[in-house]
Amino acid sequence: MTADDLKKLAAARALELVRPGMRLGLGTGSTAKHFVDLLGLRVAAGFEVLCVSTSEATQAQAVALGIPMSTLDETPELDLTIDGADEVDPQLRLIKGGGAALLREKIVAAASARMIVIADDGKLVQTLGRFPLPIEVVPFGLEATRRAVAAAIAAAGSAGRLSLRQRADGTTLVTDGGHYILDAHLGTIERPELLAQSLNVVPGVVEHGLFIGLASGAILAGADGLRLLGK
Ligand code: 5RP
Repeated sequence: MTADDLKKLAAARALELVRPGMRLGLGTGSTAKHFVDLLGLRVAAGFEVLCVSTSEATQAQAVALGIPMSTLDETPELDLTIDGADEVDPQLRLIKGGGAALLREKIVAAASARMIVIADDGKLVQTLGRFPLPIEVVPFGLEATRRAVAAAIAAAGSAGRLSLRQRADGTTLVTDGGHYILDAHLGTIERPELLAQSLNVVPGVVEHGLFIGLASGAILAGADGLRLLGK
């Protein structure tokens, strides 16, 4: 089985959690895309749900599939969000934002009674940090913010290089919210809570990709089957 097959398997299992009438948060990325495709088939067969997306890309996909869409302004409380992750640890702490959608993903997850992560089991790690931590920043004052972010990382006991995320064509990536992303190449994050707190108070940082206390469960697909974490 390919990694993509595993992602689809996790997405299919997550679909079993969806009940008629639910208000759903739809994640972003290749795994979440499988979930939205499968949900679209259900909706086409008459299943009723109301969804909020975490990115313009997911919004476009869902609309094309005929999935009824809402916003957090109209529907501020969601029953369930299904989203991917770049890393998951055994305490269900996550790194997200590989697809640059972390800001909306965190807002939608926080508005949901449950957030379930879907991923291939290669995303499960004992210690977060091998995947570069995305930090969304406002363009104004970028260099000053970069230095303050580096100091916040050092204060939390981590160290590593910061890179400004680029598009494939070499231009600076701009998020759906009009911001930039600094990727922190830390290797390991020994104290994720402390790092999260430290980054939360840096002026110019809009959000970071450490999701702590947000995921209620994870569906991880591996060659030997599905592994469920949490509830
Ligand atoms: C987007 C994300 C994605 O959920 C994360 O990058 C995982 O993506 P994929 O399912 O393609 O591996 O956080 O911002």
